[in-house]
Amino acid sequence: MVNIAVIGIGNRAGKYLSCLPQDARVAFLVDSDPIRLTQAAERYRVPQSACFSDTASFFSEKRAVDGIIIATPDQLHFSETLSAIRAGYPVLVEKPAASTQEELDSMLEASKQTGIPVSVCLVMRYHPYFRRIKEIVDSGEIGQVLSIDHTEAIGPDRMGHTFVRGLWSRKDLSGPIFLSKCSHDTDFLLWLTGGKALEVTSEGGLTRFRPDCAPPQAARRCLDCSVDCPYSAVRLYRDQHAWVAGFDVPEGKTLDDVIEEELVAGRYGRCVYHCDNDVNDIQEVRVLLDNGIRLTMRLDGVSLDEGRRTIIQGSKGKLRALGTTLEVNGRVEDYSSLLDLPLHAGADRFLIEDFIDSLRTGHPTAVPLSVTREAHRICFLAR
Ligand SMILES: NC(=O)c1ccc[n+]([C@@H]2O[C@H](COP(=O)([O-])OP(=O)(O)OC[C@H]3O[C@@H](n4cnc5c(N)ncnc54)[C@H](O)[C@@H]3O)[C@@H](O)[C@H]2O)c1
Repeated sequence: MVNIAVIGIGNRAGKYLSCLPQDARVAFLVDSDPIRLTQAAERYRVPQSACFSDTASFFSEKRAVDGIIIATPDQLHFSETLSAIRAGYPVLVEKPAASTQEELDSMLEASKQTGIPVSVCLVMRYHPYFRRIKEIVDSGEIGQVLSIDHTEAIGPDRMGHTFVRGLWSRKDLSGPIFLSKCSHDTDFLLWLTGGKALEVTSEGGLTRFRPDCAPPQAARRCLDCSVDCPYSAVRLYRDQHAWVAGFDVPEGKTLDDVIEEELVAGRYGRCVYHCDNDVNDIQEVRVLLDNGIRLTMRLDGVSLDEGRRTIIQGSKGKLRALGTTLEVNGRVEDYSSLLDLPLHAGADRFLIEDFIDSLRTGHPTAVPLSVTREAHRICFLAR
């Protein structure tokens, strides 16, 4: 049996644990939130003595674990991963692995010196759709890659919930959006092309989710607002019960009680034009790689659509990845059946299986920290 510890038992960790292989079990839990810790301890049958409200207590003694999943907020990844490496436990850390280049390089150095492996949850590498793109590029069907034009559109629900009202809305707390959201994308594109960045240019800003862009009749909270708005928190949480997985329900209350509390006084009931957000909602990053390939990446947080679009120009043709279809030199492959599959169309499962397998066999995972260095570096440079 492979014993794992989980630090940060929130939304992401819950996804990985929902598809944990049969030969693995949760042996230790760490979370600073007592409700989450108690609920997770019950769900995964972890005794109180193996639950910790802070990482220092967990690392204070040698524990019987084979590996650690770190899924805390972004700024904690560096210190927690370093503690795990020093204590001798292999790590699977959520992206971004670190907040600065110096942090990332310290982690790499510590991992190299100790031989303790660190892998990063860059799930696009495990996603069937993006794997198919990689397969087509590697097959040579479109020839040598010359340039890639990649757009990530973040629709109203995700943008409002996560990057305007939510926990990734402020640079001082969660870092720049290009790092927190697009480290997936820089890693994906470099996976396709290889190479190192010779030049990185970046421009962007907060163009929409600010008070001077609010409709004149907008109220400070959606509950009091009559504007027909795609960002309505009442529609999202009360009517659709969407994006509520992170709302903790204390004993004696219902999810509906918690939603009403949020709408009345919580961060998620605020008008998107009157929050304390400062991360960009638009950013364009251009990269010239040392193999001559040019990448253009666009983060579009004011879009009414959601999803990634990638156009790869090759010396023998073009691949257009439009979200649910792949068009390759006129041939169309349909992947719309993947759209509604849970766990990132199974990618979360493949990732956790790969990690557990690496603990069992000692083989590296598909995404060791070292291969993500350049993708992180581009994000740090783009800011
Ligand atoms: N790979 C992906 O596709 C993907 C998608 C979304 C988020 N993420 C990343 O996953 C990480 C977790 O995101 P999430 O959505 O699960 O967030 P979350 O808020 O649901 O979970 C984070 C957990 O960490 C706990 N925590 C906070 N501070 C702590 C501390 N000091 N010590 C111990 N526990 C602490 C919180 O109580 C919470 O339970 C983030 O780094 C995020 O960027 C990755």
